[in-house]
Amino acid sequence: MRIGNHVKLGVNIDHIATLRQARRDIDPDPVAAAQVARQAGADMIVTHLRQDRRHIQDDDLIKLCKLKGDLHLEMADTPEMVAIALKAGPASICIVPESPKEVTTEGGLNLVNGGKSLGKTIEKLKKAGIEVSLFIDPEAPSVRTSKALGADAVELCTTAYCAAPNKAKSQAELERLELAGYLAHEMNLTLHAGHGLDYHNVQAVARIPHLGALNIGFSIVARSVFVGLKSAVSEMKQLIN
Ligand code: PXP
Repeated sequence: MRIGNHVKLGVNIDHIATLRQARRDIDPDPVAAAQVARQAGADMIVTHLRQDRRHIQDDDLIKLCKLKGDLHLEMADTPEMVAIALKAGPASICIVPESPKEVTTEGGLNLVNGGKSLGKTIEKLKKAGIEVSLFIDPEAPSVRTSKALGADAVELCTTAYCAAPNKAKSQAELERLELAGYLAHEMNLTLHAGHGLDYHNVQAVARIPHLGALNIGFSIVARSVFVGLKSAVSEMKQLIN
């Protein structure tokens, strides 16, 4: 939910773990990174436990959930992930599509094929007191299906907006995000957005009416190499509010 002019910033710390996994070492520690990000103004810490464990590991998730403040978990809808989530107990979960060969999440969920199993997963997670969102493309049918499946929130995929080759296309993508956002709000769904956002393209998205939170990872971690994580987070925070 948007409080006054405040859009929450969810900082995804996966790529801190990507660097650690390059050497299978203990540094840099994503748990320590989460603490720095929070001190710098992150409202939530976000992490995606992938089935191939390419960055965050199960143990990281357990430790991240024990830290003070909200942990937002991104995960695929699989029995293994649901069991891990119920054990770890994050504050909220975003269910995302996942395929082993992708470099990063490639767009929103296909709700036409996944509907039935998703509904059951949402019910289980909500029963455990976890707020559930679905990562969707900014399209009216996906918003409506999310509501019908029982989701509390939707996270609109901003990839097409971020990858737009020119101003006209980027404006058109922004309007798609806004329209889907209005519908989500009308349907009483909490509104989040994210994927591919950076220091140059974030401000227009942050002004989308009814937006509650933005989830941003890669650009923040990339910038932190040059300015440090604390500055990278607080610069992003300043841009979105
Ligand atoms: N939102 C979702 C659902 C994601 O899967 C990701 C990537 O983990 C992000 C936001 C963050 O994307 P980026 O790293 O491009 O900022």
